[in-house]
Formats: sequence, C-alpha cells, structure tokens
Amino acid sequence: MHNLITLDDFILQRPQDFPYDVKELSAILEGIAVASKSVSEDIRKAGLVDHVLGAQGNTNIQGESQQKLDVLADEAFINAFSSSGVICGIASEENDNFVAFNSERAAFGSYVVLFDPLDGSSNIDVNVSIGTIFSVYRRVSPLGSPVTLDDMLQPGTEQVMAGYVLYGSSTMLVYSSGNGVNGFTLKPSTGEFCLSHANMRMPENGRLYAMNEGNIQECEQGLVRYIQYCQSRENQTGMPYSGRYIGSLVADFHRNLIKGGIYIYPSVPASPEGRLRLLYECNPLAFIAEQAGGLATTGRQRILDIVPAQLHQRVPYYVGSKLMVEKAMSFLG
Ligand code: AHG
Ligand code: MN
Ligand code: MN
Repeated sequence: MHNLITLDDFILQRPQDFPYDVKELSAILEGIAVASKSVSEDIRKAGLVDHVLGAQGNTNIQGESQQKLDVLADEAFINAFSSSGVICGIASEENDNFVAFNSERAAFGSYVVLFDPLDGSSNIDVNVSIGTIFSVYRRVSPLGSPVTLDDMLQPGTEQVMAGYVLYGSSTMLVYSSGNGVNGFTLKPSTGEFCLSHANMRMPENGRLYAMNEGNIQECEQGLVRYIQYCQSRENQTGMPYSGRYIGSLVADFHRNLIKGGIYIYPSVPASPEGRLRLLYECNPLAFIAEQAGGLATTGRQRILDIVPAQLHQRVPYYVGSKLMVEKAMSFLG
C-alpha cells in the first residue's frame, strides 16, 4: 500500500467534478464520512453491546419495525449534517417529516440531504452487509428561509451528488458528483477513506440477477417471462444466469456495479408501487448507476425523471447493467 489518496485530498484535487463550491461538497462528504465511521464501529460490535442489536420497539412511518441501529444511524447522520454549515435540512426513512435545521448558519446552507440511514435492516441481526444511501440537492427555497417540502421533492435529475456507504467485509464509500463514480475504502489503521475504486464503470451486460423470487408467482407475466429467460439457455451467455439476492439493496447494487447484473424490486400485490422508496433509495442509486454507464427504470420509465409527490413515495425498481435493464423492459411491453 503506497500513495493512498484520501477522500478529502481527492475532492479538493478535482474541483472540476463539482459545478458548485468544492469546499461545500467537501463539508457534506466529511459529514458522511464522520457519521459512517461511527455507524461502522457500532455495527462491528453489534453482537456485544446491548444498545446496538435488536428492535427499538417502535414502528416508522413505513409501518416497519425500527431496529436500534436504524435509530442510532439516523441520529449520527442528522448530527453530522446539522453541524456541517452547508446543509439546511434533511429527510430520512426514519422521520415522518423532513427536518429543518434551525441555527442561523444552517438556514444559510444551500443543500438538502435525503437518506436511508441503514438499508437492509433485516440483515443486522444476522451479520450480513448493510448500508447507508444518500442523495444531495441544492435547495429551491431562498437562502436564510426555513427549508420547505419543495426542497425535498425534486426529481432525481436535479441531484448534485449521491452515493452510499457499504458496511461489508470492508467499509466503503461510493459517490458521484456528476462526473463519474469513485469508491473509497475505510482504512482501519488511520480511520480514513482512501481511493480504492477509481472511475467505476458498470459492465454493460452481466449474468447475475437479484430479485426476491418468493414473490414471483404474484408478479406481472412479462416479469415472470423475463426471469424464465434469465434461467434459460436462451440468453446471450447460452447458460442460465446466477441468482444472487442479499436482501440489502446497497450490497446487491454494489455487487452488480462491479460484476454486472440486474436488481429488480417490482410491483407486488402487497406493495403495488414496489417496496423501495424513490427519494432516498432509488434516486441516489439510479444516479450512481447512470454515472457508471448503467440504467435505472420503473420497468417503463426512467427513475430520475419522476417528479416526486411524497417524501416516502415508493416505485418499482429495475436497476443495473444497461443491456440487462433494457432486456427486462422489453419483456414488460
Ligand atoms: P430498509 O432496511 O431500509 O427498510 O430497506 C430494505 C429494502 C432493501 O434493502 C432490500 O433490498 C429490500 O428491502 C428487501 O425486501 P424483501 O425482504 O421484500 O426482499
Ligand atoms: Mn432501505
Ligand atoms: Mn433503512
């Protein structure tokens, strides 16, 4: 290991990657790095400490049982964002409404962040990879005024930065500010994120598909036929694809980003709009996918073009290698 480039050096060396003040980008990513290191530490000792593992005993607005780590992570990120000086408000999976930061300094912040503090919560108790997903926009309300719902409900095309942290066998931060995708691995000995995956590109095609196939009998016929195509010798490899489903969107997405593949969470009767949330799950990963040469759609429409109507809105999600998503869409008609 030599000449490692830290996240902060990387950002400051490449001001051309961000159309606004690069010091602001640096402040936002610094907040994400600080919070994610503390969440990563909590996760690493989850089985040993009472206040970390297990259910919190509450239900969030999605009707899902909150895990203690969901709440700890939410607090860690909110603390980091509220003290960044450039963020005026946030919205997260674990808060019914958006949160406006009230300090005078924060009110003059130009950015809002929407995030899923811990993605893949159902995997916490079984020691499987989980993640954090984030999406950053310029506010549309005037500087100095309280943040509004309109600041949060912007289409994904307006994102100025997005990314995720994966708490896997190593902890990684992957982000894009609109000029390609780069990945950084947390170096445990120094506690710094260092560039490990420069200019990430998603393979145009692949042979991995990820979907909760427990739902397949309840899915629309076009999707049933696409999954049969994946499992047949009719596809371009002449062999059945491999099924891979971790059940943590971030981890499934990250694998497909590196190896090529498709992730699908379709409309199902129990969840007609799909399960995943547009603003803090689908949009940020769609931004990363497109920046890496991949594609993200509802099966019929580009994710980033959707004009959101609600904070916790859900959408069906087809994301991954470009040719695989296009092929899946051709089956849906
Ligand atoms: P979260 O833990 O933030 O609520 O998100 C869980 C999501 C996603 O990570 C995963 O891909 C999907 O839900 C799994 O859903 P199923 O258990 O229905 O497959
Ligand atoms: Mn999630
Ligand atoms: Mn979550």
